[in-house]
Amino acid sequence: MPRPEDVVFPRRRERSEDRSKEGEQRKLLDEFFDHATLLAVSRLVNQGLFESIDFPISTGKEGGVFRATKGEEFRAVKVYRIGNTTFRHLPAYALEQLRQQTSVRNYGGLVIAWTRREHTMLGRLTDAGVRVPRPYGHLRNVLVMGFIEDAGAPAPRLKDAVVDDPRALFDDLVEQIGRMVREAHLVHGDLSPYNTLYSNGRVVLIDVAQSIPTDHPQAGPLLERDLENYAKFFGRLGVPVETSDFLHAVGGDSIGPPTEA
Ligand SMILES: Nc1ncnc2c1ncn2[C@@H]1O[C@H](COP(=O)(O)OP(=O)(O)OP(=O)(O)O)[C@@H](O)[C@H]1O
Ligand SMILES: [Mg+2]
Repeated sequence: MPRPEDVVFPRRRERSEDRSKEGEQRKLLDEFFDHATLLAVSRLVNQGLFESIDFPISTGKEGGVFRATKGEEFRAVKVYRIGNTTFRHLPAYALEQLRQQTSVRNYGGLVIAWTRREHTMLGRLTDAGVRVPRPYGHLRNVLVMGFIEDAGAPAPRLKDAVVDDPRALFDDLVEQIGRMVREAHLVHGDLSPYNTLYSNGRVVLIDVAQSIPTDHPQAGPLLERDLENYAKFFGRLGVPVETSDFLHAVGGDSIGPPTEA
């Protein structure tokens, strides 16, 4: 078995490519892979979920997402930072739900519960036929999921993507969000062209941990806000979208009172 630290960014093909890259990787290792996180990674490797972590796809204040290799396939590994930064931007309703579901009160425990929650939500959405990364497992602050690619590279966020057919994109979104609402009975609550990947012409919804059930009092207004984010985006693409039509199309007008104008 490899040592835990050899699993993350192993030096394979690109041996001595350049020193600056090595420096960057060292920094990422220090930032995201503290001892406990490395141990979690190594356990997940022993469970056969992946073999190595290759490179960062995205790093932010709350965590990093890395590409990993599993045989001939790739996986995405999301590492949440243990600390209070993860919850700084969380809406109150999401935090409240989390606190109800877990007895832990310290930030570390909450981050672990949050990681589990993202995994659970991905599972529910996958079961409901919503296009999201498939969840493969989680441990502590580390989540393993399907790697969403576009022509072999990590898929771009919808906001950065070149969209050939905005109409088809709209129909695809209606279908995915419609399934989320009608089949999974969930509202994402943080949907936008940022948390949507564009993979070979189709949308994949990500970052689902803060999703709430459709019978939650906030579900209606949150869904409307999610759809408004897309409506603006479609407006810029030259496809006018009325939020009320969008809401109707995804089955959202039956989930609680709309915010009266
Ligand atoms: N399964 C995946 N496959 C490929 N890329 C992914 C995957 N999941 C996430 N990413 C990439 O990582 C980025 C951040 O992921 P995500 O939105 O889940 O995390 P986050 O902590 O909310 O970060 P941010 O604050 O940047 O949104 C995404 O915008 C996307 O580029
Ligand atoms: Mg995100």
